[in-house]
Amino acid sequence: MGIVDEDIVATRAATDIVGVITQYTQLRRVGQRWVGLCPFHAEKTPSFNVNQELGLYRCWGCQARGDAITFVREVEHLDFVAAVELLAGRAAITLRYSDEAEGEGRKRRARLVAAVEQAVEWYHQRLLSSPDAAAARRYLRERGFSGDEVRTFRIGWAPEGWDTMVKALRLPNDVVKDAGLGYLNRNDRQTDTFRRRILFPIFDANGDAVGFGGRDMPDGDGPKYKNTPETVLYQKSKLLYALNWSKARIVTDDRAIVCEGYTDVIGFARAGLPAAVATCGTALTEEHVRLLRRYARRLVLAFDADAAGQAAAERFYRWERDHEIEVSVADLPPGVDPADLAGADPERLAAAVEHAVPFLRFRVDRVLGAARLDTAEGRARAAEAAIEVIREHPSDLVRDQYVMEVAGRCRIEPDQLRAALARPAPPPREAPKGRRGRTSDDEAPPPPRRPAPDERNGPELEVLRHVVHAWADVEPWICYEDLFLSDLHAMAFRALMQQPTVPEAIQAADPGVADLLARLAAEEVDSQPFDAVVRLLTERARLEIRNLVAQVAADPELQRVQQWLTHTVDQLRDPTTAHAAADQLVAWLGSRGEEGA
Ligand code: UTP
Ligand code: MN
Repeated sequence: MGIVDEDIVATRAATDIVGVITQYTQLRRVGQRWVGLCPFHAEKTPSFNVNQELGLYRCWGCQARGDAITFVREVEHLDFVAAVELLAGRAAITLRYSDEAEGEGRKRRARLVAAVEQAVEWYHQRLLSSPDAAAARRYLRERGFSGDEVRTFRIGWAPEGWDTMVKALRLPNDVVKDAGLGYLNRNDRQTDTFRRRILFPIFDANGDAVGFGGRDMPDGDGPKYKNTPETVLYQKSKLLYALNWSKARIVTDDRAIVCEGYTDVIGFARAGLPAAVATCGTALTEEHVRLLRRYARRLVLAFDADAAGQAAAERFYRWERDHEIEVSVADLPPGVDPADLAGADPERLAAAVEHAVPFLRFRVDRVLGAARLDTAEGRARAAEAAIEVIREHPSDLVRDQYVMEVAGRCRIEPDQLRAALARPAPPPREAPKGRRGRTSDDEAPPPPRRPAPDERNGPELEVLRHVVHAWADVEPWICYEDLFLSDLHAMAFRALMQQPTVPEAIQAADPGVADLLARLAAEEVDSQPFDAVVRLLTERARLEIRNLVAQVAADPELQRVQQWLTHTVDQLRDPTTAHAAADQLVAWLGSRGEEGA
């Protein structure tokens, strides 16, 4: 690490995070914090929060968070040292560097990339011309790979021996290891990572060589694919195969085709669709989506989306909302890989992408397609199954469109289906495992859970519980004590605000308040932070509405306020508008407090 710690601390202290961030997005003061449109994801309503005092930012839409240094790193795509250098420049601080040379990390990376690049070229030449690669060449030819494709995608051949490549390249031990090209055996001898495999070299979006996907020969006895181990360069959850080649076309099409296999990507290019990328042996992650969003707004999934199942559906819908993308599913014949179709029927492959359908459309069609719609029982079962799929979608309007369609096709009254949809979902079934069980290390996070309303406890206490356990989670909204109607709760909140830690707040508070705080600290929080905030704000807004009703007769102007509040409460219930509505309510309640004072 290059810069001395003291100077990093000084730079952080001298930096006004609001000043930095306003160079990228407009911020507006709301109570004690600043809010604006998130510079890291597309959004129309602000969910990006900055706490100037603590020097932290957080986006409730895309979960980006950090301090000024993180911000500059992410927004300018810089490494840590470069980000500190930029901020120090702004603050007129002269940095001192520790004995390790400046920019060490960057040099290291360049060194590793150069090593992988050398290996890419070495393996590639081996495939093109070495006698021991004859079987691999024949196999590729039989599978329809042309010489041009082999050269474009720089496909390689890792020979049979234990250390043929590392011996030829003669790289230092640490470079071989850190680049994932090989490892040291028991006798400290360099050993190749890949043996007797066809190699698909993997580059990052900038074209830096970072790793390989290695395919076994058809007569091999290892796993079908083996990839470079995770290294500083090769992090599969952030990498997409072929993005370096495909990105230009992805931008022009405003559409990225996402498939599962290296050979699928090449198949797409062969069929005239050079806008495809592949995950490298993992499920699609949010980081992948963030990366693709830089280039296109539409993602077409070209893999067996059935296997992706419900957990995937919930993630896709969330990503659609959070990143303003459209996720659709290519209309591939079931069980057929794009690579196979590219050879057999390239026009059909192109049509599959052209006729891609929204993810929910695809799920509903699968359910109805598998059902017997010619009997009353079959139609009822189909409708039940379809409702469970429709339920996953977060938008009321979208859900209702499908409800009406399913009602028509299953000959059931739409209102009956709406009633079924309004009932709680049956207990979830076991999530289907990935087709080859290899996505198990990428388990989707569990879907957010709405807590059961707890009358005894009330939203004020639940929010206070969050403040005690993890204030940062609710801090953007719960930032002044007037939000609490109960005096005891307001005093508890003030005690927490005035002391740096919960134990100190308990120490300093009056006995009644201290008792409450101690109890909250011992209790478990069993709601999502934002859900608790929404419940509190809803209760507060309803109370205001009731008060207004009494006053409207005297002051008709207040009717507008009442209508706005009613509308905002509705918006709190819709996940797509809830964050913005919460912000507005907090601001409104806060400004009322100031007027009253
Ligand atoms: P496939 O089994 O569909 O392979 O796995 P493929 O890409 O179509 O390869 P070919 O066309 O049969 O040669 C799809 C992807 O899943 C990952 C690889 O990234 C592969 O490209 N995978 C598959 C693994 O990581 N390990 C495996 O053992 C198998
Ligand atoms: Mn495949």
